Amino acid sequence: MIIKPKVRGFVCVTAHPTGCATHIQQQIDYVKAKGPIKHGPKNVLVIGASTGYGLASRITAAFGSGAATLGIFYERPSEEGRPATPGWYNSIAITRAARAAGLYAGNLNGDAFSNEIKQQALAMIARDMGPIDLVVYSLASPRRTDPKTGVVHKSVLKPLGAPYTNKTVDTDKGIVSEITIEPANELEAADTVAVMGGEDWELWMKALADAKLLAPGATSVAYSYIGPIHTWPIYKDGTIGRAKVDLERAGRAIDRQLKAHGGGRAFISVNKALVTQASSAIPVVPLYISILYKIMKAKGTHEGCIEQIQRLFATQLYNDGKLQFDSEGRVRVDDWEMRPEIQDPISEIWPQVTTENLAALTDIAGYRTEFLKLFGFGLPGVDYEAEVEPHQAFD
Ligand code: NAI
Repeated sequence: MIIKPKVRGFVCVTAHPTGCATHIQQQIDYVKAKGPIKHGPKNVLVIGASTGYGLASRITAAFGSGAATLGIFYERPSEEGRPATPGWYNSIAITRAARAAGLYAGNLNGDAFSNEIKQQALAMIARDMGPIDLVVYSLASPRRTDPKTGVVHKSVLKPLGAPYTNKTVDTDKGIVSEITIEPANELEAADTVAVMGGEDWELWMKALADAKLLAPGATSVAYSYIGPIHTWPIYKDGTIGRAKVDLERAGRAIDRQLKAHGGGRAFISVNKALVTQASSAIPVVPLYISILYKIMKAKGTHEGCIEQIQRLFATQLYNDGKLQFDSEGRVRVDDWEMRPEIQDPISEIWPQVTTENLAALTDIAGYRTEFLKLFGFGLPGVDYEAEVEPHQAFD
């Protein structure tokens, strides 16, 4: 079939297999061009491995340091005549490329919050990989079924305490409007912590430790975001921010356990705001990202997921690099985003943006290009008029 993008609000309901594979190859090429990461990880588990920051982590580990990788993700497979979600095609593509390079690449498609997937992962690690030396925790999910209670928790993206009014953009239609979001109640806030907080990360690390499948000196990292004052009520000081505080708590607890286990370490890396399926769902944030891209591209400091994670691995985690912590014990690769030379112009532009001047004052065009790329559209060298088989399986 000929597959075209079908954008519905902040999702695209189609994905292009050849385009996704080309996108993966671009990221592999970037990592390879940067050269090998000395003393990099060799046996890596990535939880949330099929898109965004987790995918970039898997590609960097495999192609920057020759690591065996096990990727956990939750994607809708393709069917006869129906495309998969992009993470399915991404995972097939990285698996093929890794195996062609002689690297082990295992995959588990299912609910990472469940005991079943954890048990299956442990079995695969024991059978195929041996003890893990890096665990990347990069889930972004709207819900979680608690494995003990069976209760389904749903996360919300809301402010806490008071309603929040700000500008937002409909990235598909290019309309800037004002949005007011009512504050979450305590149950919604607690539910969001249950989904996006650190409990599940701790459960994964405990399962690995109990099964003796953590290498001495193992590292674990999870990703967070802070961002500028414009988005604090909906992000840092909102329900998701509260969940990230819990993720940091979990990071400190896991760090203590790993330190006691052969001098390992766990930490949070605060990453840059980027177009991903997760971030496009947050009100206000896509408008901020559109302005951010404009300014960072003009300054020559713009990065995507792969550049961020390659920099994290090559300058801080490995390559004889040293982790540099902020006052709260977090690693910051959002450092370039947060520079005054980037944030000051954003603060100037923010109040001026309207539907009419959106294209001139922001990089909404770049936002849309990046968004479509997530689904495999707009990649160079791909013939989007050609017939393509949507039904793809792992070899
Ligand atoms: P994403 O939506 O691109 O990726 C999420 C991944 O989680 C996918 O691989 C998906 O299959 C997997 N997943 C979701 N639910 C699952 C489940 N129940 N079981 C197994 N896998 C599941 O998200 P993105 O943006 O890469 O986010 C990853 C982390 O990075 C999150 O913690 C997010 O808060 C953080 N982050 C994101 C930033 C951004 O601007 N996108 C900025 C800084 C941090």
